[in-house]
Amino acid sequence: MTDRDLLNMAREAAQNAYVPYSHFPVGAALECADGSVFTGCNVENGALGSTICAERTAIVKAVSEGRRKFVRIAIYGEGENYCMPCGSCRQVMSEFVGQGDMEILCTRSGGRYVSYRLSQLLPHPFEL
Ligand code: THU
Repeated sequence: MTDRDLLNMAREAAQNAYVPYSHFPVGAALECADGSVFTGCNVENGALGSTICAERTAIVKAVSEGRRKFVRIAIYGEGENYCMPCGSCRQVMSEFVGQGDMEILCTRSGGRYVSYRLSQLLPHPFEL
C-alpha cells in the first residue's frame, strides 16, 4: 500500500465526519502490522471536550478488532496548515508502539503531505 493509497482512504473517511461545531472534517487511515487498515473520522459533541478525533476513532476501531501493532497512519484535513495529530492522539498512538515506532502522514489543503515518526512528535511519552 502506497502513502497515496492510505491518504486516499483517510480522505474518504473524512466524508463521515460529524463536525457541526468546527466544520473541520478530519479523516484517518491506520495501517496495522498485519496489513489491515482501519479508518476513522472526527465525531464532535456539544460538550466540546467529549469530541473524539479521527485518529483515535481509527485506533479504537482497530484495537476493538484485535489489532495492537500499528505501522502507519494517514491523517487528512483540508486546512492551511498540515493536519498534525493532537497531543492526546500522539499519547494514544504511543500506547501501541511499545519500544517500536510508527509513521505519521499529515496532509494539508491541495493534497501535499509530510511524514514524521511518532518518536519525533512525542519523544517522551508517559508510560505507566
Ligand atoms: N481533530 C482531529 O480529528 N484530529 C486532529 O489531529 C486534530 C483535530 C478534530 C477535532 C475537532 O473535531 C476538529 O478537528 C477541530 O479541532
